[in-house]
Amino acid sequence: MTLSKPFEVCFVCLGNICRSPLAEGVFQTLINKQGLENQIIIHSAGTGGWHVGASPDARMLATARKKGVQLTSRAQQIEAGDIRRFDLVLAMDRSNLESMEYLCSPEMAAKKLRLFRSFDPEADGDLDVPDPYYGRDDGFEHVFQIVHRTCPPILDYVKSQME
Ligand code: 4NP
Repeated sequence: MTLSKPFEVCFVCLGNICRSPLAEGVFQTLINKQGLENQIIIHSAGTGGWHVGASPDARMLATARKKGVQLTSRAQQIEAGDIRRFDLVLAMDRSNLESMEYLCSPEMAAKKLRLFRSFDPEADGDLDVPDPYYGRDDGFEHVFQIVHRTCPPILDYVKSQME
């Protein structure tokens, strides 16, 4: 039996209906496969509040479903208290990161906030997960490819922080 507190990770985008729900679903699938459900708790949120309470975008749901990933989140807006509570908060793009830097101290930002694609082995200098909301359907597939290859190195990092 382990008595230590679970490690809590939150993925954050703008609306919390496209990119961060996908990251939450893909990461949860990885965690379930490795039997880490009790040690690592996953959340997602948006920096904006327009879609609070909504299910993920139908196009993101369809893309995830095709890959065998279920998305079950309801949109919520990130708050200062969330950043204090979570151990790692991953921004899907630089604008999301900047919005969250207004919610916490520089010390807290340095300790908790990271760019999602700073873990992407193929980022090649581009550290934003592109926002697919106003684009074509193939933008959702592109986001899936980025998220799918980036979640395993994030899980390796989380495990290293739990040791
Ligand atoms: P997300 O995409 O940040 O990946 O959830 C968006 C969803 C909604 C809007 C923008 C981006 N919006 O402007 O409503």
